[in-house]
Amino acid sequence: MILTQEQQDMLDGKYGEGTAFAMKIQVAIGESFDAKKMVPITRAHVALSNQEADLWFAEKLLNAGAKCRIAPTVNPGFCLSFFKNKDMVSKEDADLMQRTHDAYKGLGAVLSYNCTPYIDTNVPNFGEVVAFSESSATPYVNSVWGARSNREGANSALCAAITGYVPEYGLLFDENRKGDILVEVKADMKTDYDYHILGMLGKKIGNGIPVFTGLPKHISKEALRNLGAQLNTSGAYGMYHIVGFTPEAPTIEAAFGGNEPKRKVVITNEDMAAILEEISLEGNREIDFAMFGCPHFTLEEVKYIADRIQGQKLKKEMWILTSSHVKEMAVRMGFDDIISKSGGYIVPDTCPDQPCWGHLNGKIGITESPKCAYYPQRRGIHFVIRDLDTCIDAALTGEVK
Ligand code: F3S
Repeated sequence: MILTQEQQDMLDGKYGEGTAFAMKIQVAIGESFDAKKMVPITRAHVALSNQEADLWFAEKLLNAGAKCRIAPTVNPGFCLSFFKNKDMVSKEDADLMQRTHDAYKGLGAVLSYNCTPYIDTNVPNFGEVVAFSESSATPYVNSVWGARSNREGANSALCAAITGYVPEYGLLFDENRKGDILVEVKADMKTDYDYHILGMLGKKIGNGIPVFTGLPKHISKEALRNLGAQLNTSGAYGMYHIVGFTPEAPTIEAAFGGNEPKRKVVITNEDMAAILEEISLEGNREIDFAMFGCPHFTLEEVKYIADRIQGQKLKKEMWILTSSHVKEMAVRMGFDDIISKSGGYIVPDTCPDQPCWGHLNGKIGITESPKCAYYPQRRGIHFVIRDLDTCIDAALTGEVK
């Protein structure tokens, strides 16, 4: 790779040991992808996980004196004050979260603890080169905003935030952003939940950049969030196109760059039903709790639940995960009051794949998100997956109907 004088100085340690370490990793990634040079970024998002390896890496950089040039937003861990107040975390787990907080604070990150920054806190413009990790974030910034990011890992995105550069390869080039697979959707796409299920069909869609046709004219930000999150739960997708909707796909020809699709796939209602059966526990049962907000819920979704349950008592616990700013708005607007009077909780800064959910071990939940059902399995928590209304009704009655 050809480096500028400044990049070479970073590598040689003139900007400190931490920056040199980050640049060394960036150059190694670039060389493995045959990148010729590094290009500057304007934004980054780090999929912090608050797990031992994540903390080890962040502390190593911090102790070596690294500081972010581009302050990245970060993913959720768990909300220390919320779970400590409820006595739901061990001292050991609380210490881990505190150390994660301290490390990222020391590195100069924006402590947003939210996995949907592309909706309101870290939104790139068309053509911006950025370094975004997180399953729903990379496809959203590429596909919906037309920004340019490779599928970064948490570590590579943090290195990019520190050096301010990424190696130029992959989705940063026009020619690599064209579609490969034509996905004709014949299934009924009526609600945001349907995009969760469509995204889980990665095995049928196959590897490459999908180009969707047959989707409705208006697609909500929540539906687009769900599609990206689940495409990366069932497969590995840096971007997709929706013909006539996403900015680099005004026509089918533009989406494929004038080439023929390498593969054609048709998605039917039967495909959607079959994948749901494969990934969900059977319905018609009692559940112990409901969990929503993986990826984090928007204010509109919180309002929807508040409107649905206002004045009623939940039979089962309901946990709604969201960002701290949506929680704050929910408090101001009275939704938090409505939901807590019904027996539910709006939890800021928190992910289902965290040690704060120990009390749910061995229990059966209901959720509208396959990603929410997928990760906590390793913590002994299992889910029925259904549309949001069915989930709300199950929390009210205690049973999936
Ligand atoms: Fe977000 Fe955690 Fe789900 S990072 S998408 S809440 S697994």
